[in-house]
Amino acid sequence: MKKEFTDGINRIFNKNRELGHLQGSTQDLTWDGKHVTVRGNKMVYYGSCSYLGLETDERLKQGAMDAIQRYGSQFSCSRTFLQMGLYDEVESMLSEIMGNPTILAPTTSLGHISTIPVLVGDRDAVICDKQVHNSVRNAVQMVKGDNVYVETLPHNSMHMLELRIADLSTRFDNVWYFADGVYSMYGDIANFKQIWKMLDKYENFRFYVDDAHGMSWAGKNGRGVALNNMPHHPRMIVASSLAKGFGNCGGVLTFSNEEDMRTIKNCGSSFIFSGPLQPAVLGAIKAACEIHLSPEITTLQNDLYERMLFFRTKAHELDLPLISQELTPIFYIGVAKQDIGFKLAEAVNKDGMMFNLAQFPAVSMQNAGARITLTNHHTLQDINTLLESMAYHLPRIVEEEGYSYEEIYEAFGMKRPQQVAMNAYSVLAQTA
Ligand SMILES: Cc1ncc(COP(=O)(O)O)c(C=O)c1O
Repeated sequence: MKKEFTDGINRIFNKNRELGHLQGSTQDLTWDGKHVTVRGNKMVYYGSCSYLGLETDERLKQGAMDAIQRYGSQFSCSRTFLQMGLYDEVESMLSEIMGNPTILAPTTSLGHISTIPVLVGDRDAVICDKQVHNSVRNAVQMVKGDNVYVETLPHNSMHMLELRIADLSTRFDNVWYFADGVYSMYGDIANFKQIWKMLDKYENFRFYVDDAHGMSWAGKNGRGVALNNMPHHPRMIVASSLAKGFGNCGGVLTFSNEEDMRTIKNCGSSFIFSGPLQPAVLGAIKAACEIHLSPEITTLQNDLYERMLFFRTKAHELDLPLISQELTPIFYIGVAKQDIGFKLAEAVNKDGMMFNLAQFPAVSMQNAGARITLTNHHTLQDINTLLESMAYHLPRIVEEEGYSYEEIYEAFGMKRPQQVAMNAYSVLAQTA
């Protein structure tokens, strides 16, 4: 990393830490999924990605405790030599959830590092979406080091993607496209319909999707946003996470066939050189798998859907600058300038609520914003209180900073929408 870059990041993080916006710690002795006490202030937190609220579920806690009682705190051996039978059980359940052969890596990042360098050949070309998650980029850097051709395209630009595939597919063995299912900052999603069409049209086009934030709250058995929007194509690989909606830890990798899955298990670095997930984690994953394979998952998904719909409608009603209109549990209220973000976060904290303030380098310099994640722990009343607080403070702060809503939208390449009477919530709720 260049020194100017690390100096810049250090400055941003140190300032944020002093102000209490980054690298904080909770002071609570327990976690109920919703409340945090930070610097003596007890607040409702809107930054957890445990979308279905499973992290506090008694069945998951019990699963973890049972596994510890039976197997201790670790089975300390590379899985290549020997793994606990619990791994077979959970991988078989995860394959059923995902609908195709699935293996479990210690984390999603390690899953990418185990898969991408193995599957991408030195005569392949790689295309990354500009906003693909950093963990995918890190794995792509590894193949770039092996002189694989890599290029980056503007975010979700399907027109450009098709132009590039048409060109590269004549010169390279395979053309890979790396994208997120749900983008972790703005909560927008990949254009699955167009990607599916391109998979059908170009025989050597391959799609790798990181659907970490799409897991559990969408799709049959919670298999995610990607597989909810397109069937598993033979040339597609889905990487996902058990650390968000699934309420656990670990990365899942789903392949269209046993052979690819076996290749990654045999050659993927974390399957050989990393230690296994702890029995407690595997026990909790098994309990969460049972919920995903039962009808209860649909009830949990519907509960979250109601919250997402309510949030979006209320944010529109209150004229808050919502950057993506997509219905996911990640919402981004743009403020553009870091100082507006600081003031908004402080005001909302004083009202007893906390969101994650997104800033550079997680987003571009002029794209700061309130990244709000919803979980089933939040009530509609909680969401209402948060949005009312933001709508009360934001216009005053924007004015104080000599800025305008129009300029905020402009910073995100958008036009401020006309104020429309939004009663879509009631209409949609009736039709949902
Ligand atoms: C989209 C996405 N992919 C991957 C990761 C990394 O996941 P892990 O911590 O399991 O490596 C994250 C982390 O939050 C993420 O948001």
